[in-house]
Parts: sequence; C-alpha cells; structure tokens
Amino acid sequence: MLDQHQIAELNKIAKAMVAPDKGILAADESMPTIGKRFTSLGIENSEENRRAYRETLFTTPGIEEFLGGIILFDETIRQKASDGRMFTQILQEKGIIPGIKVDQGTEPLPNSPQEKITKGLEGLPGRLADYVILGAKFAKWRAVITIGAGTPTDECIQENAKRLAEYALDCQQAGIVPIVEPEVLLDGDHKSERCEEATTRILKALFAELKNKGVALEGLILKPNMVLSGKDCQVQASVKEVAEATLRTLKVAVSAEVPGVAFLSGGQDDVLATARLNEMNKIGGFPWQLTFSFSRGLQNLPMKIWAGKQENIEVAQKAFSHRAKLNSLARQGKYSEALEKEI
Ligand code: 13P
Repeated sequence: MLDQHQIAELNKIAKAMVAPDKGILAADESMPTIGKRFTSLGIENSEENRRAYRETLFTTPGIEEFLGGIILFDETIRQKASDGRMFTQILQEKGIIPGIKVDQGTEPLPNSPQEKITKGLEGLPGRLADYVILGAKFAKWRAVITIGAGTPTDECIQENAKRLAEYALDCQQAGIVPIVEPEVLLDGDHKSERCEEATTRILKALFAELKNKGVALEGLILKPNMVLSGKDCQVQASVKEVAEATLRTLKVAVSAEVPGVAFLSGGQDDVLATARLNEMNKIGGFPWQLTFSFSRGLQNLPMKIWAGKQENIEVAQKAFSHRAKLNSLARQGKYSEALEKEI
C-alpha cells in the first residue's frame, strides 16, 4: 500500500499533466505505427527521420503553454535534439512533464482471437525503474476493445481491465503516474449507443479492478475514447450528442477522485475532436479536468507539412502550435470554429 506522502506526490504530477489550460501530446507511436503514418506521406521510416520529426514537435516555440505532458516511446526517451540536449531535458526546461509508453502491443485473446489483450506486464517493475532514471514521471498503457458481432466479450473486458490495474499498481509503486487507456475502437458501422454500452462496461470493470488492487485513484489519469458512432455508420451523432453521451458514460463509471480525464482522438477528424471536447467543457458539471491526450488529432497536419524536409519545419511547427492552442481552448470551453482560420 502507498502512504499518504506517496499518493500526494502522484496527485501533484497528475494535476500538473492536466493543468487547467493544458493537455497531453501522445508522441509515443511504436515503430510500425509511425512507419505506417510516414509511409503514407512518402517519408522514410528511419531512426533519423523519427528523431528529426519529434525534435520538430518538441522544440515548437511556446508549445509549453498548451501541453502539460508528452508521452514518449522507448526509442524517443533515449534520443537527443540536434543541439545535443536529451529530449527529456528540453521538455523539462519547458516545464512539460515527460512520460513513457510501457505496454508492448497486443496479442489475440485465446478464446476469442479476433479480440486483443495488451502485453507488457512481465519485467515491468524493472523497466519502470529504468524509465525513472531516464526522467519519466508518468506512463501509458493502452487496451483495445472492438465492437463487432458478439464483441466485446466479458472475458476481453475483464482481462484488459485486470492488466490495466496491475500496470497501474506497478507504476504507482515506482512513483510514476499511470495513464490508463481503455480504447473502444471507432471501427464498425454500429450506432453510438453500442459505443456507449461498450465504453460503460470497460470503464466499470476497470474501476472495479483498480479499487480491488488498491490503486490510488488520485494518482492516475484516465484516457478514454469519446462515445462515437462507428466510422461506417450512416447516421453520425452530432457534436452535442457525442458530448452528452460521453459525459453520461463517464459520470456513471468514473470516480470523482480521478484528477483528469484526457481523451484519445482515435481517428476522428481533427476539427471534430476539438469541437466535441469543447462542447463537453461548455456543458461542465463534472469533477475531473477534462482534456486531450491526442496523437493523430494534434499531429495529422504538422506531419503532413513537415514531410521529412528541413525547410518545412517552421510551417509544420506553426500548424502544430495552432492545433494545440485550439485544443487548449477547447479544454476550457472557449473554442469556436471561426478560430480555425486564424493560423
Ligand atoms: P490517437 O489520439 O491518435 O488516438 O492516439 C492516442 C494514443 O495515445 C493511442 O494510444
């Protein structure tokens, strides 16, 4: 069990990650994931390109106004900028908290192989101790839930919830704030109601497991999906419907002690993700900080503009900074679509 002092320390880090005008950048794409994104834009997936791209993001002037934390990948946390400083040092100097992705991807669930369970618990305490030395103050673990015929199964929900809670406990014992990320995927032609049902099931199971294992809820950040219609569904829920359904879901399942809920973007359109976050913060009436922890929602445009070329860095940074600013406004309920043109 953690003592009060340890819990207070974790709570302080968690609150700084989701400070009132800030959100989190997920820059922890694994090699195959960033490779897919680079290849689709004609960028070679080399170590130097991954390093140069992340340097472009992390050295964006003023980005610290909008970001409380950045999630790094194992390769990235060990890399340096062109001026010789470690990326972690650059972030710390800007007052941005460095974090690390610690899950090791997914494997098929044996009894329902079209579903996935997340790997990475083996040896986790040792890896966390190494990441503490490298400067990480928080971590991330993503579980994936698929909506389909007969899925998600209870077994998939239970096993992912159990592993997320075990990871969260290991993190807290290492003095690291866990981001717990159960992602209900956007894939499918289902209506938003099915996403609401699946999201409620996984969140309830997750909080039951977290409590069961004695994880300090004040010392974690929840990273859920928004409640959305499947991407191939004919009738897409409106911004207001998404905001209301998402808040309804969070309120039935998420304990008030949790300092922050930071959404993943999950393949939504960038502008819609911002508008939906804004709408929730305009509605208000919840006990958590409600913010973003986007990868694609912040990076789609800057990555495309950068395109692997030194001469595009400044324009890419402007696009990144603009998107981060709009999401910072959205997490305060102060965004409007007219601001999209102000770049
Ligand atoms: P997206 O915002 O692209 O969904 O990524 C968030 C993330 O960190 C996935 O683990």
